Amino acid sequence: MSRALPQVEPDPSLPEEVTVYEVGPRDGLQNEKATVPTQVKVEFVRRLAAAGLGTIETTSFVDPRWVPQLADAEELLGLLGDEGRGARRPVLVPNVRGLDRALAAGVGAVAVFGSATETFARKNLNRGLEESVAMFAPVVERARAEGLWVRAYVSMCFGDPWEGPVPVAQVVDVCRRLMDLGCDQLSLGDTIGVGTVGHVHRLLEALAAVGIGPERVGVHFHDTYGQALANTLAALRDGVTVVDASTGGLGGCPYARSATGNLATEDLVWALEGAGVRTGLRLDALVETSRWMAERLDRPSPSRVVRALAGG
Ligand code: HMG
Ligand code: MG
Repeated sequence: MSRALPQVEPDPSLPEEVTVYEVGPRDGLQNEKATVPTQVKVEFVRRLAAAGLGTIETTSFVDPRWVPQLADAEELLGLLGDEGRGARRPVLVPNVRGLDRALAAGVGAVAVFGSATETFARKNLNRGLEESVAMFAPVVERARAEGLWVRAYVSMCFGDPWEGPVPVAQVVDVCRRLMDLGCDQLSLGDTIGVGTVGHVHRLLEALAAVGIGPERVGVHFHDTYGQALANTLAALRDGVTVVDASTGGLGGCPYARSATGNLATEDLVWALEGAGVRTGLRLDALVETSRWMAERLDRPSPSRVVRALAGG
């Protein structure tokens, strides 16, 4: 396998360092047709950690009837032991039942996941915007009381397949309500990958205007329209330093059919390391992990960097 790296030419408009928030085991695997064996998930998480990833979202404690691919959350965390615990191994929890399960499994960080639109809230959470915020409130309160780190995702921040354009003010309102519950970090989800750079800038500016500055914001771009990397760089130029990505570009949401893979971690690392931005990640180990996972999933990685370096 090639150990090629880009030529480094620093870009002073970017931060010196970026934290990659890896969502491969959760967002990446929740949408796969085949259910990945738990042992393969364990090895995936271990390989990601060995490649230098500090933060890895491992799984979801949702209703297994809704996301059967992640029905083995307890078993996975049991097998991972200490490697699956702590403030840098978040899991998704939608409600108190999910939090109970996550606490029993010994997690140190959780993420609730809201929607900027009414329609997607109903499709993904079986309740509207108001009711979903009400569902998250006791989760965040108790998670904080237990000393957990808490993230709030907001999906459909840049457009919704059922509702079309989503006004920035509407997105900001949902973000503010979730952050007011006491979450530590907000992740802006472009669930269906339709956002563009000016839109990213406007949303970050509008969030900063209500007191949610870029130091509390992560960005979560799906790459459906090929905009994920450009949008990420735009967000970094506006002061964001946490970027969600998925090794090999796996990902999607089973309740938004038009969602495809996340920004590939390898594509992000190639761009950032080339621009002199530290990620702490080993590109060769990530590419090797994606090559290994592609064999298990029986399909090539959609990541351009993986294809260039590993030949598919
Ligand atoms: P519901 O059917 O309204 O739930 O689903 P309920 O509270 O009415 O409970 C019904 C039954 O489900 C009960 O069981 C509960 O115990 C059980 P019964 O009494 O009928 O036997 N139940 C659970 N079981 C296990 N774990 C739980 C749980 N909760 C209830 N946590 C619910 C509501 C939210 C649970 C459901 O809609 C759900 O699980 N949704 C999850 C959907 C999901 O995971 N989507 C993908 C993640 S979001 C995403 O990918 C976007 C993101 O990447 C950002 C972006 O890209 O934009 C984050
Ligand atoms: Mg996602």
